[in-house]
Amino acid sequence: MAMRGSSPELAPARADQRDAVAALLTAAALPLGGVDAQFPSGYVVATRGGAVVGAAGLELHGDAGVLRSVVVDPGERGRGLGQALSADRVAAARARGLAAVYLLTTTAADFYLRLGFAPCARAEVPAAVAASIEFASVCPASAACLRLDLRAASAEPPADPLRPFGEVFVSQTGGSDD
Ligand SMILES: CC(C)(COP(=O)(O)OP(=O)(O)OC[C@H]1O[C@@H](n2cnc3c(N)ncnc32)[C@H](O)[C@@H]1OP(=O)(O)O)[C@@H](O)C(=O)NCCC(=O)NCCS
Repeated sequence: MAMRGSSPELAPARADQRDAVAALLTAAALPLGGVDAQFPSGYVVATRGGAVVGAAGLELHGDAGVLRSVVVDPGERGRGLGQALSADRVAAARARGLAAVYLLTTTAADFYLRLGFAPCARAEVPAAVAASIEFASVCPASAACLRLDLRAASAEPPADPLRPFGEVFVSQTGGSDD
């Protein structure tokens, strides 16, 4: 269990944090398939007192991204960390000039709708995204497919993006340095 009393910090993932992230994903029943292909370069982690308490990944597939593996330690939920991790990956996608970010979820569609994602037909997913492990094999076909169009006028980031995240300090994570 992570130490309390300090604030979670977001930073680009390091290779030696892979097992801690995998443990969070496994505990949350999220798939590990394909994680290693873009870890650590595509991932941000949240730490408290050095312990990994959250993570999120942005996979690059052509000019599109796949947001996946968004997870927060159960003891850290409900204080904005999930939104901060997701927003960090969207910012990384924006910084890379990606056209859109896609995701699949069986459990948290409403969470992402609040972040600006919108339902998307699986047939509208670019071929490179559809061929990703996340889309091709890991998530069941019944999962909701969502898209955030980064080139739409409505995709502008909120005026004060850090405010909703309360105690969470968002570090500069410009994106995947691969
Ligand atoms: C989903 C998850 C990352 C949210 O993390 P978090 O740090 O608790 O999220 P935040 O504190 O930023 O946001 C909390 C808000 O999101 C909502 N929320 C949390 N999980 C949700 C879910 N599965 N579906 C819909 N809404 C959800 C909460 O109700 C809360 O709403 P409120 O502000 O109106 O009270 C976390 O619950 C988790 O790790 N779940 C297991 C893994 C998972 O399902 N990941 C997403 C699929 S890839």
